[in-house]
Amino acid sequence: MISRGHQKIVSKIVTVNLANDSYDIHIGYGLLQNLDHYLSDLLHQRVTIITESNVAELHLTRLTEPLDQVGIKWEVIILEPGEKSKSLTVVHEVVEKLLSLQIERKDLLIAFGGGVIGDLAGFVASIVLRGIEYVQIPTTLLAQVDSAIGGKTGINSKQGKNLIGSFKQPKLVLNDLELITTLPARQYWAGYGEVLKYGLICDRDFFDWLETNSNQIKEMEIEAIMKMVQKSCQIKSTIVEEDEKELGNQRTLLNLGHTFGHAFETLTDYTNCLLHGEAVTIGCNLAFQLSAESKFCPKEDVERLTDHMRSFQLVHSPNQIKYNHPTAQMLMKAMKKDKKVMNGVLRFVLVRGIGEAFVAENVNLGLVEKILQSNLPHQ
Ligand code: GLY
Repeated sequence: MISRGHQKIVSKIVTVNLANDSYDIHIGYGLLQNLDHYLSDLLHQRVTIITESNVAELHLTRLTEPLDQVGIKWEVIILEPGEKSKSLTVVHEVVEKLLSLQIERKDLLIAFGGGVIGDLAGFVASIVLRGIEYVQIPTTLLAQVDSAIGGKTGINSKQGKNLIGSFKQPKLVLNDLELITTLPARQYWAGYGEVLKYGLICDRDFFDWLETNSNQIKEMEIEAIMKMVQKSCQIKSTIVEEDEKELGNQRTLLNLGHTFGHAFETLTDYTNCLLHGEAVTIGCNLAFQLSAESKFCPKEDVERLTDHMRSFQLVHSPNQIKYNHPTAQMLMKAMKKDKKVMNGVLRFVLVRGIGEAFVAENVNLGLVEKILQSNLPHQ
């Protein structure tokens, strides 16, 4: 459902300030109707759109019609939907296809889809012809608030998620909220897990706002979605500006819930039975429990968070995953392959409370296993 008067909503710009790699994130309703306006400085001869079949069927003409109107040639590469496309095999196929199309350095690539497409297309843009420019047009809430921003590109390895990749900032991000309002409910709520994460990491006021505006968010009122997406983009941009390449701890904070979450994703074989945002929501829940058990975080904050997750009917517990359930030992093994491992030591993002995340080096792994065991269904 879309609220009244959404056409009147004025679009907003959040700038990611990264010296020569700075770019704008435009957020608004119906932005794609003026696609040529937003792309005007980047259009040369030809555009190649990388997307997946579901998005292509629903939305591809939103890009191709405006391009046709201004006489820009376009090509499209349509991939299978789902995490399985984030593989070296698919990257190889896409690169060969681009080369066979005789792509030139000045041609623009558009990543048009959710996180999988954005991560893969960004990686392709960073390697083909030693790098070409690309634009992110994310079609899911998760991608609009997180994966399309900040230039992390990547694909999965058998050893774990996103273990192969590069940093390649886009030239522009277009967050058209019209795409969000047509999302399947499950995708919307998976993306909300990443929104919630920003409040949990560093902005208790934003968490308060999400609680106070829960009805508007549940009803997908466009003013609320606008504020929610804008605030999330601002928080992400600030963190990326401070620590673009994750050399310090700042950007690592964005991984709240991801150490647990990635392990569940790995052990459910990246299948549709667990979306990335759902895995992150489960992971945030477990990271809060671990923080409380480690005496960093008051129990009341854990209860407040789980109440919030329940009231939004988010997937927040491993019990809700419909798949062969891994054991705690299997999850512990998968977690040890996390990118945050340093000098062989697993690091976790923990919290001192809602809005106060930090990177913890010396986490009691016995406690981690205990938390996993108490949250897994009895086998
Ligand atoms: N999604 C985590 C990051 O961009 O750093």
